[in-house]
Parts: sequence; C-alpha cells; structure tokens
Amino acid sequence: MTQRTALVTGGTGGIGTAIVRYLAKQGHKVVTNYRDEEKTEAWRKAMAQDGIEVTTVPGDVCDPGSCQSMIDAIHHKLGPVDILVNNAGITRDTTFHKMTYQQWMDVVNTNLNACFNVTRPVIEDMRTRKWGRIVQISSINGQKGQYGQANYAAAKAGMHGFTISLAQENARFGITVNTVSPGYVATDMVMAVPEEVREKIVAQIPVGRLGKPEEIAHAVAFFTTEEASWITGANLAINGGHYMGW
Ligand code: CAA
Repeated sequence: MTQRTALVTGGTGGIGTAIVRYLAKQGHKVVTNYRDEEKTEAWRKAMAQDGIEVTTVPGDVCDPGSCQSMIDAIHHKLGPVDILVNNAGITRDTTFHKMTYQQWMDVVNTNLNACFNVTRPVIEDMRTRKWGRIVQISSINGQKGQYGQANYAAAKAGMHGFTISLAQENARFGITVNTVSPGYVATDMVMAVPEEVREKIVAQIPVGRLGKPEEIAHAVAFFTTEEASWITGANLAINGGHYMGW
C-alpha cells in the first residue's frame, strides 16, 4: 500500500479519533488540526502511547486564512495532502422558532463553510499530482431532517451538494469525492441529546443500538483506497437501518 498524507479535520472528536486511528494503522501519515493546543497535546500523547503517531497543527476550520496556514504547515512537515476527511462538526440543537442567528451561523460555518476553507487550499495540488481522496462526514439528518436541527440538517445536506459537484469537476484528475452519512453513533455529540429523547431515537434503529465510531472509520478508509478509484460522488449511509432512502 502506498503511504499517503491524510488530513482529518476535527480528528480529536469521537468519530474523528476513530478515523485517525484507522488511517494511521493502515500506514498513512495522519494529521489533524487543533484550536486548543493543551487539550490536543494530551490527546496526541494518549494516542502515541497506544502506538498511533499523529501530527497536529493549529487551524480553525471556520477561518479561511487559518486553513491556508494550516495546509502550508502540513505541506512543510509531511508534504502535500493526498487524503482529506472533512469531519469537523458541531451541533447547536434547538427548534427553529427559537434559533438565534449565531446558532445558525456557528453550525453552517463549522460543518459546511469549513469544506470550502479546507478543501480549497488542497485541491490544486491534488489536481497537479493527479491523485486525491476527499471524504465529507455528513449525517443521516442531512438526508431525513431532524426536529431541532434545521441548522445542522441544512449544513449536512449542503455537504453532499458540495461532494457531487466537486466529484464531477475533479474526476479526470484521479480525485474521488464522496460522502459518508453516519446515523446516531455513540459519541459525546449524541450522548448530549437528552436521555429520554435518545431512547426514543434508538428505538427507531432496526439494528437496535447506536453505531460505533470504528464502523464509520471503516467506511471512510474504504473510500480512500486505490481500489475505490471508480467510486465518486457517492453517499454511503451508515445508520443501522434508521433511514433507508435512495
Ligand atoms: N417530533 C415531533 N415532536 C417532537 C419531536 C419530534 N422528533 N421532538 C420533540 N418533539 C416535541 C416534544 O414532544 C415537545 O412537545 P410538547 O411541548 O407537546 O411536550 C416539544 O416538541 C418540545 O419542543 P420545544 O420547541 O419546546 O423544544 P425544546 O426546546 O424542548 O428542545 C430539542 C427540543 C432541542 C429539539 C430536543 O428535543 C432535542 O435535543 N432533540 C434531539 C435532536 C437530535 O436528534 N439531535 C441530534 C444530535 S446528534 C447528531 O447530530 C449527530 C448526527 O449526525 C446524527
């Protein structure tokens, strides 16, 4: 297997950590961004103790200038980014009639605008080198909508629109662009949903449980392989059967 440089944004989070771990175990050079240096350094050390070497660089995915500096720093340390996983994401759940402009903007900036901010500085290099793998981490709620998530569902649906356009523009350059849409996975984000609401959600999952972060990481890693070079513009739903749309 060819060793690649893989950037996973938000790599210290629940699903992000699993993706970092999976790609590193496959032999890739993995890097993630941070805003909180101290917290990230503790996370990096814990990963290293577990045999997973991760490079960390400062970078705020909501800020285009910061993302350009982040990509420059990665280029300097590890070379050009071959694999990009746009994973950083947040929720600010509330019904729309109570939602503030800030709650809307924070979610759209972190989940959707970040795709522009991080992908724009890596795409030209990928096109020049005629190889690239870009994976967006969207959500089941971008497919089916969710009570209390007008901001998040709009941003997550937008990520797939981004995927299918970028896939068309870059197919000739050996770059594939795909989306993974996880359902409810056992991470801090999902555990923050009030317990009684969460129990009702789990009751709607045919497989009968929350997903595991590794189950998402496995699919992301699949999209980054050499063998997946004919898969582009796809959206892979991984949700325990919770939503079975086309
Ligand atoms: N359908 C219909 N009615 C619903 C509903 C639903 N899905 N969910 C709640 N309601 C109803 C309640 O029963 C309640 O009704 P009553 O007033 O008649 O009792 C009413 O809506 C509450 O509405 P409010 O406007 O007062 O809402 P709230 O301020 O109490 O907050 C909420 C509600 C924030 C949306 C809360 O229900 C919640 O957190 N829901 C979970 C949202 C969710 O699934 N988030 C996913 C987070 S994880 C993630 O995002 C990862 C991923 O990609 C999957």
